[in-house]
Amino acid sequence: MSEQRDGAVGAIYEAMYRRSLAEPETFWLQAATAIDWTVAPTRALDDSQPPFYRWFPDGELNTCHNALDRHVAAGRAEQVALVYDSPVTGQVRRFTYAELLEEVARFAGALRGLGVGRGDTVVLYLPMVPEAVVAMLACARLGAVHSVVFGGFAPHELAVRIDDVRPKLVLSASCGIEVNRVIEYKPLLDRALELCEHPPQRCVVLQRPQATATLVEGRDLDWAELADAAEPTGCVPVRATDPLYVLYTSGTTAKPKGVVRDNGGHAVALQWSMANVYDMRPGQVFWAASDVGWVVGHSYIVYGPLLAGCTTVLYEGKPVGTPDPGAFWRVIGEHRVDVLFTAPTAFRAIKKEDPAGSHTRPYDLSSLRYLFLAGERLDPDTYHWAADLLGIPVIDHWWQTETGWPIAANCLGIEPLPVKAGSPTRAVPGYDVRILDEAGVEVPAGVDGAVAIRLPLPPGTLPTLWNDDDRYLSSYLERFEGHYTTGDGGHLDEDGYLFVMGRIDDVINVAGHRLSTGAMEAVLAEHPAVAECAVIGVHDELKGQVPLGIVVCKAGVEVDDATLRAELVAGVRAEIGAVASFKEVVVVQRLPKTRSGKILRRTMRSIADGQRYEVPATIDDPAILQEISAALATRSRSW
Ligand code: COA
Ligand code: AMP
Repeated sequence: MSEQRDGAVGAIYEAMYRRSLAEPETFWLQAATAIDWTVAPTRALDDSQPPFYRWFPDGELNTCHNALDRHVAAGRAEQVALVYDSPVTGQVRRFTYAELLEEVARFAGALRGLGVGRGDTVVLYLPMVPEAVVAMLACARLGAVHSVVFGGFAPHELAVRIDDVRPKLVLSASCGIEVNRVIEYKPLLDRALELCEHPPQRCVVLQRPQATATLVEGRDLDWAELADAAEPTGCVPVRATDPLYVLYTSGTTAKPKGVVRDNGGHAVALQWSMANVYDMRPGQVFWAASDVGWVVGHSYIVYGPLLAGCTTVLYEGKPVGTPDPGAFWRVIGEHRVDVLFTAPTAFRAIKKEDPAGSHTRPYDLSSLRYLFLAGERLDPDTYHWAADLLGIPVIDHWWQTETGWPIAANCLGIEPLPVKAGSPTRAVPGYDVRILDEAGVEVPAGVDGAVAIRLPLPPGTLPTLWNDDDRYLSSYLERFEGHYTTGDGGHLDEDGYLFVMGRIDDVINVAGHRLSTGAMEAVLAEHPAVAECAVIGVHDELKGQVPLGIVVCKAGVEVDDATLRAELVAGVRAEIGAVASFKEVVVVQRLPKTRSGKILRRTMRSIADGQRYEVPATIDDPAILQEISAALATRSRSW
C-alpha cells in the first residue's frame, strides 16, 4: 500500500484525480511508459472526431508481448504466471511465464497456419480451462481479434454473436463441467452453426477426458493435434487503436452489443489499474473468481494480472458445492492469494451454506490482503459478513463491460479512503462522473439521477460497438450531450462518494451475470399462446435479482397454466441458456400500461419486491395494478 503522508485523508487521491481530468495528456502518457511499445505514442488523446475518441493514436504495440514476452525477458521466466485450479476435474496445474509463452507462441503458430492474421476475428466458446487463456493471448499475438462467448449461453445466443462478428474460426471444447454435471459443448456448437448465416470455415475442438466430441470431417480439427504440430510464432505489432477483442454484452433489446476493446488504451489502463486500484505488485497473486466469458475474466483473470507481471488464478469451480463452502478458502490458502475479486453473490452463496464461516478454519488465509467485489450492488449484510469473517478491507467497486476497468473504487494503490457501506467509494482517476436529471442537468449531492460520465472516457473504455457506430451513439451518447450514459441510477453524497442504486433500463443482473429482459421477452412472445408479456428482474436473496415472466394469454386459446409456464421456462433455457435462471412465470389478464401503451415494468417490479410505489400519472387504468398485486401475491405461495 502507498505510504500515508502528512495532510488530510484523501488529499493524495484528490490531487491525482484532479490531475487526471485537468491534464489527461501528461497523465496518460506517463502511465503509458509502463507498457512496451514498438512505436511509443507521442500523443495520448485523439479528439479530432468527437464524440468518437481514440487513445495513443500514433502508438504501436503487441498486447501479448506485454503480457508474456517482456516478463520472460525481464527475468520472470520461472515465476508462475497462471495457476489452473479445477476442483471439478481434481487438477491443479501451474504454468511459469516461460511455459505459458511457449504454449501461446505455439498455438499462435497453429492459428496462423489456419490463415488467421492481423484483424481477423476468432470466436472462443470454451469452459474455464488454460487453453482459453492460451487462445486469447495467441489471438492477441497475431493481432487477431477474439470474441469469447460465455459457455452458459445456448446455441441461439452463440449463433447471434457468430453472425455479428463473422469469425474465421471458432475455438471450442468437448465439454464444460458444472459442479458434477458434464455439459457437452459440441452439440451446442453444432446447433449454433446450423442457425448461423455466416458460419466459420473451421472449428478447433479441445477434447477433454470427460466427453468426446464428434468432429465434422473437413471442418473440425483436434486442438491437441494442431497445437503439437505447430511451430511457435512471434508477436505482430498493431496500432494502439486496433481492436484486441469484441465482447458481447446485454443491452435493452434482444440483440447483444459488441463492445470493442482497443490494444493500446486497454494495456495502459489495465496495467495502471492493477497498481493503483488493486495495489498489486509484480510477483503477487491475483484471483478473479469469475469466468473468461465475462469482462471480469478478460480484464482481471487474463490481461490485467499478466500485464502487471503477477500470478493469476484460473478457477474452474463454484464458491459452494465444489466440494463445499470452503472452496474459496482452500484456493486462497493453497496458492497464497494476495487479492481476491468476485461478485457479492458468491459470498451470499457461501454465507448461506456456512453462516458461521467455520469452513475457513482448516486454511491459512494470512496472504489475503483485500477482497474486491463488483458485478452487482454489494448489500450491507454481505459486506459486513465478509469484513467480519476475513478481517481485511472489503472493497466494493463499480464498473461495466463497456468500461473494462473500474469507474468508481477505493483506489488502495493510491490512498485508501474511509469505507462507506453501500458505496463503491469515489470516481477512479480518468472518470468524470456526474449525476444528471431527466433534462441532463446536474443534480445536487444526495439527489438520485442517471449516472453519467463526461466525455472523453479514459483509455481502455469502449471506442465504439463492433461495426455499429450508430448504435454506439444511440445507446450511450445521445441521451445526454457530451456524456456517456452508464444505464445505472444513483447519487453522489457531499463527500463525493457514489451510491449506485441499480439499472434504470431493462438490463438485469442475475448472480453477477448481466442479462437482457428484452431478450427473454422475445422468447416468451414466440409462444403461440402468448398475447403479450413482460420480464422484470425481482429481488432474490442469493442471486440479487432473478427474472420473472408476466404473460397475458391470447383470447380463446385453451392452455393449462402449469403447462404454459413449463413451456416458457424451457423455451428461455433452450434459446438463451441456463445462465438466465428463468424459472418463474405468472399469468395475468392484462398488463399495466401508460396511455401511450408503454408497459409499466418498473411499477410491476416494485410490486413484486413489496416496495412502496407511486401510481404513475400516465397510467391508462390504475385498477390493473390491483390485479397485478393479487397475481404476484400468489407467487410466494406457488414458489
Ligand atoms: N456452462 C454451462 N452452464 C452454465 C455455465 C457454464 N459456463 N455457467 C452456469 N451455468 C448454468 C448452471 O449450471 C445453472 O444451471 P441450472 O439452472 O441447471 O442449475 C445455471 O446456468 C445458472 O448458473 P449460476 O448463475 O452460476 O447459478 P448457480 O445456482 O449454479 O450458482 C452461484 C449460483 C452464486 C454460486 C454462482 O452464480 C456463482 O458462483 N456466481 C459467482 C459470480 C460470478 O462469477 N459472476 C461473474 C461476474 S464477476
Ligand atoms: P457488466 O457489464 O456485466 O459488468 O455489468 C455492469 C452492471 O453491473 C453495471 O451497470 C451495474 O448495474 C452493475 N454493477 C457492477 N458493479 C456494481 C457495483 N459495485 N454496485 C452496483 N452495481 C454494480
